Amino acid sequence: MPAKSAAPVSSEKSRYTPGPKSRALCEEESKHIAPGLQTIALYSQIALESGHGRHLRDLDGKEYLDFVAGIGVAALGYSHPEYVRIVSEQLSRISIGSFTSPHRANFVKTLATVTPKGLDRIQLYSSGAEAVEAALRLAKSRTKKYELIGFWGGFHGKTGGILPVLGDSFKHELGPLMPGLYLSPYPNRDRCPFGTKGEHDCAAHCLDFLRELIKRSTAGALAAVIVEPIQGTAGNVIPAPGWLKGLRALTKELGAMLISDEMITGFGRTGSMWGCDHESVVPDIMTVGKGLGGGFPVSGVITSSEIAQSKPWGNPSGSSSSYGGNPLASAACDAALQIILKEKLVDNSRAMGKLLVEKLRELQSRSPLIGLVRGRGLMIGVELVNPKTGKPLESPLCRELFEECLAHGLLTMSYNPMLRINPPLTITKDEVLHGVEVFGQALAALAARRGLA
Ligand SMILES: Cc1ncc(COP(=O)(O)O)c(C=O)c1O
Repeated sequence: MPAKSAAPVSSEKSRYTPGPKSRALCEEESKHIAPGLQTIALYSQIALESGHGRHLRDLDGKEYLDFVAGIGVAALGYSHPEYVRIVSEQLSRISIGSFTSPHRANFVKTLATVTPKGLDRIQLYSSGAEAVEAALRLAKSRTKKYELIGFWGGFHGKTGGILPVLGDSFKHELGPLMPGLYLSPYPNRDRCPFGTKGEHDCAAHCLDFLRELIKRSTAGALAAVIVEPIQGTAGNVIPAPGWLKGLRALTKELGAMLISDEMITGFGRTGSMWGCDHESVVPDIMTVGKGLGGGFPVSGVITSSEIAQSKPWGNPSGSSSSYGGNPLASAACDAALQIILKEKLVDNSRAMGKLLVEKLRELQSRSPLIGLVRGRGLMIGVELVNPKTGKPLESPLCRELFEECLAHGLLTMSYNPMLRINPPLTITKDEVLHGVEVFGQALAALAARRGLA
């Protein structure tokens, strides 16, 4: 499905309403589906018929260029022919069980050639949160300690063992929280939590604070520090340079595991194979998911042979799960990694990400609603502001922007002023240009309508 030329976005009338078939099915489902679905599904009310390449098609035949990719899950886009062939073939043969399968053996062998040095073991799971929990068990097994530190703005899943290290208000009303977990400030390169001006000052302040926190708040039993090398949920926030390296040095000094949560940043999303590559940091443990299986619900813990042996994690059945690494999941992982390598998607992510940031910055020079554009590879953050107040664009206006984009066939997360753009890694130049054009028209229409020009 080639990108269509951008239709002008102009009047109240042109604002988005889902087509009749989408509306009817969403309405029917809403009688029984539990509340709490992802915001994008709730706000869009799209019922999907299919996806091809970087486009989704709803039941009414309307197509959307996808700047979200299931929040970084659809790394290969939709219905990649080679992926469909490999996964379908495996499904027709065998899909269940923990026995070795040709795809699993091939996947782990290939993976070990692209992981950071020394990280040559993977255990597979089904969801991101499950992998993060397994990584914590591994860190405890290795260090025989039990405390964990995460960062303000961090997100690692919604299960009980990690709720305390979600660095926002998500955990409110879900207490009591597991003891022994702490949060420290994340050195947002663009907005230092300590208000420092220079990036290096910011990194240093955040490291100093962390040192003090460990000294004054913990029981001296630190098993691990868990970090997103770029924070996804917080808005694709890039840390101040030098900080991740400093964190590596500090955790080594303390004998604690450094866990790099690469759920979003892994497998080429940031224009390098891993998010931690940008600072040449080799963590002790990485958690992966999303792009790992090209959309199949599979996640993993990657570590060194030495750390993986730690008991009880390394005991028979100590690190396993019912679905982890089954033949179907393994076929998905094998297919996805082969395609990422064969089609040089890491390079594409870097090149298309650079173009996307460039075009968004050009747009910023014309649109007062864009406060900031940042990005690494195809992990891009755009801060939307109200030019009258200089504050984040208010929710109702963001929602209007989201609908304006949808009306013209562009799927974004612009219902949030910390807009995240993470298209499939297979995105083409034409699609980047088309998407930015539609986004620019949507911004202009909103600004004109609400007197924000
Ligand atoms: C960095 C990070 N870790 C872990 C998770 C949890 O993954 P899941 O939703 O598959 O449990 C997410 C989900 O967005 C994430 O962004």
